[in-house]
Amino acid sequence: MKPGPNSVAQVALAPGGVSLSAIVAGAWRMAEWQQDVSARVRWIEQVLELGITSFDHADIYGDYSVESLFGEALVSTPGLRERLQLVTKCGIKLVADARPAHAIKSYDSSRAHVIASVEASLRALRTDRIDVLLMHRPDLLMAPDELAATFDALQAAGKVRAFGVSNHTASQLAMLHRRHALATHQIELSPLQLQALSDGTLDQCTDLGMRPMIWSPLGGGRLFTGQDPQTLRVRSVLETLGQRHGVSAATIAYAWILRHPARPLPITGSGRIEALREAVSALDVRLSAEEWYRVWQASTGAEVP
Ligand SMILES: NC(=O)c1ccc[n+]([C@@H]2O[C@H](COP(=O)([O-])OP(=O)(O)OC[C@H]3O[C@@H](n4cnc5c(N)ncnc54)[C@H](OP(=O)(O)O)[C@@H]3O)[C@@H](O)[C@H]2O)c1
Repeated sequence: MKPGPNSVAQVALAPGGVSLSAIVAGAWRMAEWQQDVSARVRWIEQVLELGITSFDHADIYGDYSVESLFGEALVSTPGLRERLQLVTKCGIKLVADARPAHAIKSYDSSRAHVIASVEASLRALRTDRIDVLLMHRPDLLMAPDELAATFDALQAAGKVRAFGVSNHTASQLAMLHRRHALATHQIELSPLQLQALSDGTLDQCTDLGMRPMIWSPLGGGRLFTGQDPQTLRVRSVLETLGQRHGVSAATIAYAWILRHPARPLPITGSGRIEALREAVSALDVRLSAEEWYRVWQASTGAEVP
């Protein structure tokens, strides 16, 4: 692992493949942050100063607007693109003003849609290449040979460096991975969302040496605002562990994710630099197995069997 510009290492997603920073900055909510171009550039610069060099996008974020907001920042600042990696996604078709042809929400992994989507993302992000392209949700009509051939063509054209999936089942990932070597699986995992720990998703990543990317690591903010019994139990344990380790509850939540042997890359969701710093701090915290299970127990409300 090479150290990044700050304390965040650059890590290969899969052996010999594309590297990202060990913490990734999510751009999903960027349209809500109401930043003008110079504030957006400043935000990206501050994220880079933390050592986070990778940014997570999707074509649909902000109703198809976030990639363009980010691209405006990139094109306004010469050299900025070369200092960061771009992850984006395709395959969901939303009903939106920006896509008048979509009559209902649906998924599409056809060659025509994926190529058109990549071209649109390249234009919006004002770049000539995407570092990692993910299929956002499993298309029930996915034809794996056609999709793998599409990946081959985009890679050969130098438009996309590596591919992965998001929110797929282990068998869907395996079917595609046999045809085109995938780099990552982007999945939901947090102290409030444990499913990937037991449904085979994380086992598969560990087995393949494929680092997962983790979305909503703080439960989309519910970890701090939720008043339901599960959240109250988890928050209390995170706060106790935070006091023990001298860090915030949010940092403990990231450390809990980082403790998994699949070696996940958490994706932050906040626009606040201080919140991203709390994620970076987790790289220096290693929870004991008992501490990890204490969080698990608080989440499930029961001891392990
Ligand atoms: N592949 C997929 O299907 C998928 C789905 C969802 C998300 N994603 C990706 O994952 C990224 C992260 O997801 P997420 O936004 O749900 O992440 P998250 O970190 O679980 O939630 C972030 C939200 O929590 C709030 N929050 C409240 N207290 C906080 C604290 N102490 N520290 C940090 N945040 C706090 C943030 O508000 P403030 O801004 O006010 O801090 C923000 O609204 C997204 O940006 C996107 O790139 C992918």
